[in-house]
Amino acid sequence: MLTTTALKPFLIDTICVDTPLTLAPMAGYSNYAFRSLCRDLGGCGMVCTELLSGPALLDKSSRARSIRMFDWRASEFPVAVQLFGAIPQEVAEAAKIVVDYGAAIVDINMGCWVPKVAKKGGGAALLRDVCTATAVVEAVVKAVDVPVTVKVRSGWEDGLVTAIPFARAAEQAGVKAIAVHARFAGQGHTGSADWDVIRRVKEMVTDIPVIGNGDVHTGADAARMMAQTGCDGVMVGRGAMGKPWVFQHIAHYLQTGETLPEPSRAERAQLALAHARRWLETSWMVERQAVLEMRGQISKYQLDEPGSVIIRNQIVRANSLAELETIIEPILQA
Ligand SMILES: Cc1cc2nc3c(=O)[nH]c(=O)nc-3n(C[C@H](O)[C@H](O)[C@H](O)COP(=O)(O)O)c2cc1C
Repeated sequence: MLTTTALKPFLIDTICVDTPLTLAPMAGYSNYAFRSLCRDLGGCGMVCTELLSGPALLDKSSRARSIRMFDWRASEFPVAVQLFGAIPQEVAEAAKIVVDYGAAIVDINMGCWVPKVAKKGGGAALLRDVCTATAVVEAVVKAVDVPVTVKVRSGWEDGLVTAIPFARAAEQAGVKAIAVHARFAGQGHTGSADWDVIRRVKEMVTDIPVIGNGDVHTGADAARMMAQTGCDGVMVGRGAMGKPWVFQHIAHYLQTGETLPEPSRAERAQLALAHARRWLETSWMVERQAVLEMRGQISKYQLDEPGSVIIRNQIVRANSLAELETIIEPILQA
């Protein structure tokens, strides 16, 4: 029998997240254009910037560039700004800066495993030692008066689930929500997420919401994750790439148990164009640079006929908005 899950809002401290669905931070993707498109299409309760370097924000010569790159806006409320760093005082100082620039929530990255971040002890490497990870959140909580959240992996070392003891310590340190990507650092994005870790984190904390993350692509996935883990929110990453409507579809499923039909090819083309144009309108980059940066995202809208990659190959070679329009506009009439 099909059971539906209510589309319940949840609270991060005093901030109400209107739906339990949130957009995952994704480097190279979670810019304003994509975040706002996901919000505008409905169903997405909260967005997060991609990770920003705490040390880069502290350096006055790179600060303006960092802020400009991540471009969060008041209209996105409640936008979480994600920081990474390993030294408690540094991350705390960086948090003050992003709050001054309008961050509604400061999120601390404890999930990134790439050497550039983890080698310096930041990201998922913080989970090697619960005490250091807790010291970082304590310092940030003391430094800012907006809610502080964390996004963790299951743990650093395969099989050693540090997320569970850390969740309790983080809650005691004043963290207001925890997102759990249920994979170990060494897994990257391989294998399947082990949602049982999310359930155990939910059991471990007392009051704060737990946001489950990993392998949610459909409404049925989200409903299953919520039922299996008791999580308060569901975070979607790769499932939203080239599919900013996924939140609306998941929300509809959670409310009704019905699966909405996927957008037609022409509808996908329309959204791809809207995405490209919004990026061009809002990016600080010159047009060519902005197009090079974004064409990978636009190629994910699956604008080809089944079995073909002609359009995709044209998109990833485009150098201007006009070129993208020439490639995509004919599909609007298809
Ligand atoms: C291209 C890409 C970039 C990512 N960048 C970040 C990031 O900046 N910060 C972060 O916490 N996680 C990052 N992640 C991890 C996602 O937020 C998410 O935890 C992961 O993709 C699992 O969720 P999913 O199965 O819904 O994709 C990234 C993932 C991808 C695919």
